[in-house]
Amino acid sequence: MNKLIVFLLGFVALNAGANELFAKADLPAGKALHEKNCIACHASSYGGDGSAIYTRDFAKVTNAKGLITQVRNCNTNLGLKWFEDEELNVAAHLNQTYYKFEK
Ligand code: HEC
Repeated sequence: MNKLIVFLLGFVALNAGANELFAKADLPAGKALHEKNCIACHASSYGGDGSAIYTRDFAKVTNAKGLITQVRNCNTNLGLKWFEDEELNVAAHLNQTYYKFEK
């Protein structure tokens, strides 16, 4: 019985949807961080406000976890030294505004 419960909890965690992943995110904080650190470069290569990079047909990111991973990689590559909650705030902002993943 206990094993079954552990199994079920693990299953729920693995299948956490965007709502669970982003439940504690601070969207306005994510928006502000994104505006300050991320838009200029995307805009210089994609034009406009740079958001086309998120909505292009062959988007690299295909789910909420992938989005968090991508934001983490950008954070690391750019040496921004964001904390995990800041990465999550930005990923949640991008999801709410552009990607709209449920999973
Ligand atoms: C120095 C330029 C630059 C900066 C700064 C930058 N990016 Fe990017 N970003 C890119 C480029 C170029 C790509 C496309 C990479 C590719 O196609 O493989 C990209 C792709 C992405 C994607 C994937 C888009 C897709 O296909 O779905 C995400 C998400 C993203 N960036 C988030 C961020 C975030 C968050 C920040 C701020 C922390 C950031 N980027 C800062 C250049 C930049």
